[in-house]
Amino acid sequence: MNILYRVLSTRFLIPLLTFSIGCFLTNVFTNFSCSIDTEPPPKTECFLFILILSAPDNIESRNAIRETWLNLRPHHSTFSHHMHIPTYDEKGFLRQESIEEQANSLEVYKMWLKARHFVDKSSSTKIIHKFAVGTEGLSRYQHGLLLTESKSHNDLLLLDNLQDSYRNLTKKLVLSLKFVSDNLSFRYLLKCDDDTYVKLDIMTAYLLAYHEKLSSVNFASNPAPDLYWGYFNGKANIKTSGQWKETNFNLCSKYLPYALGGGYVISEGLVRYVNNNSDRLSLYASEDISVGIWFASLRNVFRKHDCRFDTAYMARVCKDYYIVLHKIKAENMKSLYAGNECIEENTENNDKRPLEYFYNWKATSMQCCDTLVNW
Ligand SMILES: *[C@@H]1O[C@H](CO)[C@@H](O)[C@H](O)[C@H]1NC(C)=O
Ligand SMILES: *[C@@H]1O[C@H](CO)[C@@H](O)[C@H](O)[C@H]1NC(C)=O
Ligand SMILES: *[C@@H]1O[C@H](CO)[C@@H](O)[C@H](O)[C@H]1NC(C)=O
Repeated sequence: MNILYRVLSTRFLIPLLTFSIGCFLTNVFTNFSCSIDTEPPPKTECFLFILILSAPDNIESRNAIRETWLNLRPHHSTFSHHMHIPTYDEKGFLRQESIEEQANSLEVYKMWLKARHFVDKSSSTKIIHKFAVGTEGLSRYQHGLLLTESKSHNDLLLLDNLQDSYRNLTKKLVLSLKFVSDNLSFRYLLKCDDDTYVKLDIMTAYLLAYHEKLSSVNFASNPAPDLYWGYFNGKANIKTSGQWKETNFNLCSKYLPYALGGGYVISEGLVRYVNNNSDRLSLYASEDISVGIWFASLRNVFRKHDCRFDTAYMARVCKDYYIVLHKIKAENMKSLYAGNECIEENTENNDKRPLEYFYNWKATSMQCCDTLVNW
């Protein structure tokens, strides 16, 4: 017994003790070195950050979103087999998807929709969302309500130096991107409004598949593509009146190609680009138009035009394959969440609705949008 004890103590206890003292000292020193250097704390990590621009009083819309699509989570690996990754041509221009490729992707998706059996909502992909609200000039009452809401949900991005107004939306976007850029490490950012419904399970599954495939491609001396994903327009008329009136746009007679603001996704590099250069970028009246202009000269932007984004100022005719739906009232979010694929909000204006087209990246922008989707 005694011998065994002695053997044990020399063989194990002493090394164990030495090891513990070593650990303790290492800890003291690393903590010491931490406290004297000025490294910022590690950024919170997530795969997807969702930025929802919201007006101070729209608590009903925020609650509808909290109770519905924000709870969706992806079933990974569903889409990897047909994920398009762009390549560069010999001059260093990124090849955008052709009309045939866009049409083919849509067909594949429609087939998947018919065949799918279930969506696993338990995936562990980390998603963080914030509702951005400008608070300057709010009444004491409004302020109080926002603080209460913020306490119970912890998902408001309150911008104290911003008066929340249409004219300030681009500034609001820039300030929000600054917050995201400074405080988070993420791969993709979805920007949407508080009347946008997103099939977040499908969108995230796509992004996971895209990201995985992208990481396996070697772009040699070219920069890895940054993603700019949404529904594009390259020939929108310059607004000369109304709340989106543009007084400073003189680059050309139409806006440059941009993804419509009801919902679009940009990758981390583009968010950091905006943040790094925010004091040099022109802030036009519309936030989505500004984004299109900011990225227009970058050669590594994959502009993924997708008919599944119904993101214009007015809903197109309802289609079951939409994954982002704009202009959705709070009560209709619940019906979509319950399984309705889309909502016909008002049927009387059918002829005034925006058209649905594939985007022609090979033509100049006046011919961008002539190939209509047949359905
Ligand atoms: C935009 O926000 C700034 C800062 O809060 C404010 O001074 C300005 O009046 C706002 N502009 C408009 C048009 O709301
Ligand atoms: C987030 O970034 C802002 C600057 O954009 C900073 O003032 C704030 O302290 C940061 N918040 C956190 C939690 O790091
Ligand atoms: C932004 O600035 C940081 C710090 O200077 C730099 O490391 C990073 O590469 C820049 N990113 C982009 C996309 O400009």
